[in-house]
Amino acid sequence: MALANTEIDELVSLERGEVDRRIYTDPEIFELEMQRIFARSWLFLCHESQIPEPGDFFQSVMGRDNVLVVRQRDGSIKAMLNTCAHRGNAVCRAEEGNAKNFLCTYHGWSYGIDGRLNGVPGFKTFYDGQLDKSRHGLAQVAQVASYKGFTFGTHDASAPPLEEFLGATGRLGLDQIAARGDMVVVPGIQKFIIDCNWKIAVDNLFDWYHPQVTHASAFQPGVMGTDAPNAAEREKIDLSEVNMDSGAALDLPATGISGTKFDQVVVLGEYGHAIGGPTASSSGSAVFDQTWRTTAQARAALGPVGVEVAGHPNIFPTTWIAVSVQLSLRIPRDPGHTEIWWFTFVDRNLPRETRDFMVTIASRIFGPGGVLEQDDGENWAQATAQTRGIASRRMKHQLTMGLGRGKIIKEGGLSRVEGLTGEHGQLWTYHSWAQWMKGLGWDELKKVTTPGDFI
Ligand code: FES
Ligand code: FE
Repeated sequence: MALANTEIDELVSLERGEVDRRIYTDPEIFELEMQRIFARSWLFLCHESQIPEPGDFFQSVMGRDNVLVVRQRDGSIKAMLNTCAHRGNAVCRAEEGNAKNFLCTYHGWSYGIDGRLNGVPGFKTFYDGQLDKSRHGLAQVAQVASYKGFTFGTHDASAPPLEEFLGATGRLGLDQIAARGDMVVVPGIQKFIIDCNWKIAVDNLFDWYHPQVTHASAFQPGVMGTDAPNAAEREKIDLSEVNMDSGAALDLPATGISGTKFDQVVVLGEYGHAIGGPTASSSGSAVFDQTWRTTAQARAALGPVGVEVAGHPNIFPTTWIAVSVQLSLRIPRDPGHTEIWWFTFVDRNLPRETRDFMVTIASRIFGPGGVLEQDDGENWAQATAQTRGIASRRMKHQLTMGLGRGKIIKEGGLSRVEGLTGEHGQLWTYHSWAQWMKGLGWDELKKVTTPGDFI
C-alpha cells in the first residue's frame, strides 16, 4: 500500500488540532510505520553500562527485528539481527548475558560475538566444503553509535549521524539522565504489554492535563514517595475543586523561564523530538525532587534554558526519559499492542541504601507494579479500543488546547513554547509523524520538522 501524501495530510491536521482515529487501528498504516519510521530512525538499543565486558550482550528491538547488541573484544559495540543466516531461527534466546559465541539450536551453525559464521556442522561432508562462510554471518545493523553511553542503532545506512539526529532537543533529553552522575542501569528491565496503540502511549508523556484526574487514586493514598502530598495536603485534593485552568490546585509557583506567569514549557525539536512538562522552578510539588538542577554542574551540562526544562523528553519515535530517572521504550507489536520497557538509572557512587530506595520508588510509579502506569494503561487501552468501531472511528481526536497560541521562542539552540498546560508536545509529535510517513529524504524531513514561529 502506498498512502498518497495528501491522504497522510488528512490524517493529521496541525491547523485544526485533529487526528484521525484510523492511525491507531489500520494494519496498513502500521506496516507503513514499520517501513518509513522504524526501519529508518535511530532507535535506542541499550545503555553501555549494561554490556561492560567483551561478550556481554543485550537483546533489543528495532521495529519488529530482534537485535543482539554485543560488546566486542576491542571495546566497540556491534548490533546484529538475531536470526540465523541459514533458515532464520533465533540464535539467542536469552534477554541478556555473556556469550563466547551464538549457537543456533536448529542445525547448529555457530557465530562469533562479532556475528561471523564460524561453525557449520557437516561443512565437509554435507556441503562438500562449498559454503562461503564469509557471506553468511549474522546481518549487521547498518549504523550503531552511542551518545554519553546511550547506544542507538538504525537500519538506514544513509541516516544522519546520531548526534545530528538527536539535535539539541534529543541530546538534552539524554543529558537529563547523564548529568546526574556516573549513571548505570539497574539490572532487570521491566517489560510488559498494554493493549494500546504505541502512539497513544507516546503522546501521553506530554500530557500534563490528565494526572489530576487519571492519577487521583494514586495521589490520595500517598503511595507515590516521600514528597507525595501528605495527609493534610491530600484533603485539599478534591476533584470538584480543581481549577485546571490556573494550575492553582497543584500550588505551582507561576514563573516561567522568561519570568512570565507560566508553569509549563514544551521544547520542540527536529525529526519530532520534544520535551513537555513543568519548568524546574514550578515543579517543587512534583513527586521527584528537582533540586539537583540548582547545581553549577547541572547548569553547565544542560545550559541556561535546558536546566529549567523539567518535563518529559521523547526522542522520536519511542524513547521516553522520565523524571523518575528512567528510560522507557514503547515498542509497537501490532496496531493494538505495545510492549513497554523500563530501564532504571542510578548513580553508581551512591550508597547502596539510597540506590535501593530510588529503585523502590521508581518501581512503585511506572512499570507493571507502578500505580501511575496501571492508571494510564487502562485509559490507553480504552482509547485504542474505541478507535475500532465504524461510528466511533468517524470522530477525530482533539488536540486543540493552546492551538495556534504557542509562540515559539528560539534561544540557546532550543525552540520552546511557554504557557499553561497545553497540547503542543502531542501536536508536534503527530505533525512529525505525518512527515515521516511521507517517506521524505533526510534533508527534506529535517526541514519540515524544524519548528517555525507558532504552533
Ligand atoms: Fe540456524 Fe539452520 S536455522 S542452523
Ligand atoms: Fe499518567
